[in-house]
Amino acid sequence: MSRYAAVTGWGHYSPSRVLTNHDLEQMVETSDEWIRARTGIAERRLATEGETTTSMAVVAAQRALERARMDAIDLDLVICASTTPDYLLPAASCIVQERLGAGNAGAFDLNTACTGFLYALVTASQFIRAGTYDRVLVVAAETLSRFTNWKDRNTCVLFGDGAGAVVLEATDRDCGLLSAVLGSQGDVGHLLAIEAGGSANPTSEETLSNGHHYITMRGNEVFRFAVRSMEHAASEALAKAGLTSHDIRMVIPHQANIRIIRATQEALGLPPEKVFINVDRYGNTSAASVPIALSECLSSEAIRPGDNLLFVAFGGGLTWASAVLRWADVDAIIGQREEGPYAI
Ligand code: ACO
Repeated sequence: MSRYAAVTGWGHYSPSRVLTNHDLEQMVETSDEWIRARTGIAERRLATEGETTTSMAVVAAQRALERARMDAIDLDLVICASTTPDYLLPAASCIVQERLGAGNAGAFDLNTACTGFLYALVTASQFIRAGTYDRVLVVAAETLSRFTNWKDRNTCVLFGDGAGAVVLEATDRDCGLLSAVLGSQGDVGHLLAIEAGGSANPTSEETLSNGHHYITMRGNEVFRFAVRSMEHAASEALAKAGLTSHDIRMVIPHQANIRIIRATQEALGLPPEKVFINVDRYGNTSAASVPIALSECLSSEAIRPGDNLLFVAFGGGLTWASAVLRWADVDAIIGQREEGPYAI
């Protein structure tokens, strides 16, 4: 019997603190008009004091588990995608696993920046389809505000904090990933980096005074890479799935910049209403961006079993990722699980 990996739970968490473009006008030389026109962002959410990547991840994960009607103790694996974990060691996933009470789960982190959720989604699906595990939590969370130089207008207007999660589980019903495209181009990794704090350049007084613990970015070059890679990755994922853009119910892109999203939409020949957008309210939350958008999309759009969703993202590394996911009959799968043990 075939095994598929269905998304049966989802949820997100956005911190309560709002930073508007007008707030930023008081901090750096910028304007609401410039930020809206160049990025599409109006405001972003920032972690409050005491909130961290894992504290936000735990809330998003609890919401996803609740939607899946699943107990954390029944999870086999926790994958956490983040560029901004609480610590270099221990891994964010281990902290999340413990706080959720997922005592039977293995845990590991994955860092491909903004594409992290999609890399993790593909990884989780493979574990399930291979028969290794039945239930996997994928959570993506970021606290970019703690790695942002609030005096650098080139970057500080772009980012926000938050978390999104999905629960995947094994099913014999035809659904889940139809295709996946994962890419990397390490030779241009320096265009988007945090230079210090790792083994190559450990934290020192010099790295701190030079601000090398903050995100730096060559925005214009990243922008060109983003447009190119989003278009190619999305087209390739469609081709691999044997679909055209007309077969897609909704595109859920990485929310970095409205101009990048619109360029992708136009390249795919889709009307604007088929592309989910929330960059105006959250800015770029890196790995958390796609699962937050998915979670909001599922609340506002009627997504039905059999609908095809197209995910696409680019990010640090530099990396790109895209996937087509056939939406599952979520309630039927949960009902089947609650009726008895797995038969697959
Ligand atoms: N306010 C006002 N002016 C600004 C600001 C600002 N906040 N930031 C830059 N400018 C100025 C620049 O200094 C430049 O001025 P100059 O011409 O006098 O030198 C001018 O605006 C134009 O700058 P560009 O960089 O050419 O502007 P562009 O249209 O490319 O927009 C932006 C800049 C928004 C950063 C765009 O390049 C972009 O979105 N790039 C992709 C960024 C991204 O998504 N990165 C992903 C990171 S996610 C991760 O992995 C953590």
